[in-house]
Amino acid sequence: MIDFSGKSVLVVGGTSGINRGVAEAFAEQGARVAVASRNQEKVDDTVRRLKELGSDAKGFAADVRDMSEIQAGVVEVHEQFGDLDVVVSGAAGNFPALANDLSENGFKSVMDIDLLGTFHVMKAIYPYLRKPGASVINISAPQAFIPMQAQVHVCAAKAGVDMVTRTLALEWGKAGVRINSVVPGPIDGTEGMARLAPSETIRKKVAEGVPLGRLGTPADIGKACLFLASDLAGFVTGTVIPVDGGWSQNNCGGMSDYLGAMMASQR
Ligand code: NAP
Ligand code: COA
Repeated sequence: MIDFSGKSVLVVGGTSGINRGVAEAFAEQGARVAVASRNQEKVDDTVRRLKELGSDAKGFAADVRDMSEIQAGVVEVHEQFGDLDVVVSGAAGNFPALANDLSENGFKSVMDIDLLGTFHVMKAIYPYLRKPGASVINISAPQAFIPMQAQVHVCAAKAGVDMVTRTLALEWGKAGVRINSVVPGPIDGTEGMARLAPSETIRKKVAEGVPLGRLGTPADIGKACLFLASDLAGFVTGTVIPVDGGWSQNNCGGMSDYLGAMMASQR
């Protein structure tokens, strides 16, 4: 599709769901791929799969909330892979909770993973990016620009992530580093969908709200990341790109009302 052989890729939060699909997409195109997340077993399982796909893969366990863990892992990857051509940052946490039922620590935990964690990853990778030429991709969510009940923590955190993307495009452009956000729509079979759409009936209803008439797949997001990381997107930086079958143009199919009602009924 697009040849990434000889390129070094790091996917933070790349051990399940969408981000694992992204890691596999780069491996399938010949890249050396490293993944990171908290759980060592998930890291090992993903590295095994990436090797099956032919990638010279590696991984490390780290919590994005801990700058020193992320920094140490990035240094290790750099020692083995050399300068990083592509970094995808997608570690995140989500659960539905109405603001009045959400503790200060519940809000903080999502802000710490999604927003502070993204900042930590950006700080840790910058010295080791290929300059010029590197492409950085932050995985955002429609909640960044579509307000949703029971998602105040996620809305605030992901809006922040997109502003990190847009601001760093200004600061890093001079060094020839591009940075963009990808905004997945509802992606089938993922932890995010299991938490926000916890039954087959609801998943069907969500799919009906997608103008293209289906849920997305991790491979859909992988393909968008391949494009953004390639020379085809050589003049693209600072953008926030929905890859969502048009879902966000359709107010996410009324997901806010549904989530608000679901959480109110559980009180
Ligand atoms: P997922 O499978 O739970 O993926 C989250 C990844 O991040 C996992 O690899 C997880 O591994 C890692 N992670 C979580 N907390 C971490 C931490 N503190 N430090 C390091 N790694 C951490 O979820 P997903 O649904 O595929 O979502 C992936 C991304 O897509 C997220 O950024 C999410 O906001 C975004 N998104 C998802 C959807 C959807 O439909 N699913 C829609 C829009 C946007 P460990 O547990 O091992 O740490
Ligand atoms: N509703 C309301 N509050 C919740 C909650 C829920 N479903 N789940 C967790 N919280 C609150 C906890 O009660 C706690 O607050 P408290 O100390 O005031 O009680 C706070 O959030 C932190 O919870 P904890 O379990 O200690 O956090 P953690 O750091 O171990 O895990 C989470 C972080 C909560 C985000 C966890 O769901 C996670 O690891 N998620 C990663 C995977 C994921 O969410 N994938 C979906 C796509 S991003």
